[in-house]
Amino acid sequence: MHSEPGSTKFQIDLRRHLRQQNISDNLVHLICEIAEASKYVINAVRTGELGVAGTSNLYGEEQLALDVLSDRIIRKRLVHSGVVCTIVSEEMDEIFQVHTDSDGLYTVAYDPLDGSSLVDVNLAVGTIVSIYEGNDVLQCGRNQVAALYVLYGPRVTFVYSVGKGVHEFTMNHLMEFTLTRENIRMQPSGKIYSPGGQRNLYGKGVEKFVRYLEAKGSKLRYSGGLVPDLNQILLKGKGIFMYPALNGFPEGKLRLLFELNPMAFLMEQAGGAATNGCIPILDIKPEKLDQRSPVFIGSTEDVGKAVEYGNES
Ligand code: F6P
Repeated sequence: MHSEPGSTKFQIDLRRHLRQQNISDNLVHLICEIAEASKYVINAVRTGELGVAGTSNLYGEEQLALDVLSDRIIRKRLVHSGVVCTIVSEEMDEIFQVHTDSDGLYTVAYDPLDGSSLVDVNLAVGTIVSIYEGNDVLQCGRNQVAALYVLYGPRVTFVYSVGKGVHEFTMNHLMEFTLTRENIRMQPSGKIYSPGGQRNLYGKGVEKFVRYLEAKGSKLRYSGGLVPDLNQILLKGKGIFMYPALNGFPEGKLRLLFELNPMAFLMEQAGGAATNGCIPILDIKPEKLDQRSPVFIGSTEDVGKAVEYGNES
């Protein structure tokens, strides 16, 4: 089914769609709880004060930065869901153990408000989530049982996969998520590119790749927010996002657990690819919570070209 917002007579909501995926009730519940939490996050993003953590507001109350506040909102919901044993967040230095017995329970790794500094300048931001069975937080992204992101833009959209395609839901006036695009698919190549970091710090191969993209007429589309930038590529169904190794920053910037694994899972599920330049992102065995990695993610042929040029230098 492919339907534009407002065009369906019977709108399919997120819970109903999840129930059709043949997954455990616990996983349905967990994903719905995250969707619920995102309603409070968008409320904080839209109306919360743009405070800095540790400072006071007009009334002398301690103010939380939006990313810290979003982290608390989501963590609380995860803890109370009853189906999560382990939580790791981009905002926390340590693993948060909810239950020691992990039987039938999930580990959730998330970035509560990716690109949070963009809120100050009124650009789109997002929440990114990765879900695994059991309590091992340092496993390959390929083991994810679900990945999703919520994009807080002019509209709020929720894009998820439980390994059976990628589906987009849009928040309606009742704050319910209803299906707007089912089985999102990537074309083999496209003319959009989204390059992170500073170009004068790129290696020779990546610089050549950028020139190749320019020569083929690709348009630059980069806001500095991973969720909106990748969402554009996924929803247009073509193009490439990259955050390569930079001179002095061989691991690039983006974090494997909280940003790259969930996005790579979604991209592969849509028929695209994601690599660090050598191996698929989903096959990297993480060694630490805050591990970073270079990334090339998007249409398979474009990602393949990036690897080819990368190997040339
Ligand atoms: O990791 C946070 C983040 O804001 C991502 O959302 C985004 O893709 C990236 O950093 C942008 O980094 P830069 O400004 O270095 O291109």
